[in-house]
Amino acid sequence: MAVKRFPVTLTINGQKIVREVEPRMLLVHFLRDELNLTGTHVGCDTSQCGACTILFNNKAVKSCTVLTAQADGADIVTVEGLEQMEAGKLHPVQQAFREKHGLQCGFCTPGAMMLAADIISQHEPLTEDSIRHQLEGLLCRCTGYENIVRAVQHAAEIAHEHQTSEEAAQASGG
Ligand code: FES
Ligand code: FES
Repeated sequence: MAVKRFPVTLTINGQKIVREVEPRMLLVHFLRDELNLTGTHVGCDTSQCGACTILFNNKAVKSCTVLTAQADGADIVTVEGLEQMEAGKLHPVQQAFREKHGLQCGFCTPGAMMLAADIISQHEPLTEDSIRHQLEGLLCRCTGYENIVRAVQHAAEIAHEHQTSEEAAQASGG
């Protein structure tokens, strides 16, 4: 008997996507297998590693923990969409991970960057401890986390600089 499929409509990286999906299809598999957005990685089958993290309605979510059917109507950003959030420029998180060498093998990096994007979007004062606390749920076997923590801190600084210069440009009518 054919498996019943469910219609879903999602916005992914700014693009409206309409599909029919099997009820048990995980969002991470939908992104990778149906949309070829393979930047979102699968690192475990126990919801622990965080390699599959995306932004789901602006919050970092492990996409292996969500059924695609549950995501109907959601606004999703994957690692491929980070640049679009900055109108074609490197996102502060991308720039910071590059400048602070926040990666080695790169396997955890898409998830780490999406988690970082969520952390800096909260505009909360960040300390090393608070960053480490918020990075819980991300497993990185290479870096020892030191440079990831530095990258998150640096990304927050870059985002703040961008915001300050935009405000200055607006105030001067630019
Ligand atoms: S693949 Fe989602 S948490 Fe590991
Ligand atoms: S850089 Fe290799 S797992 Fe994080």
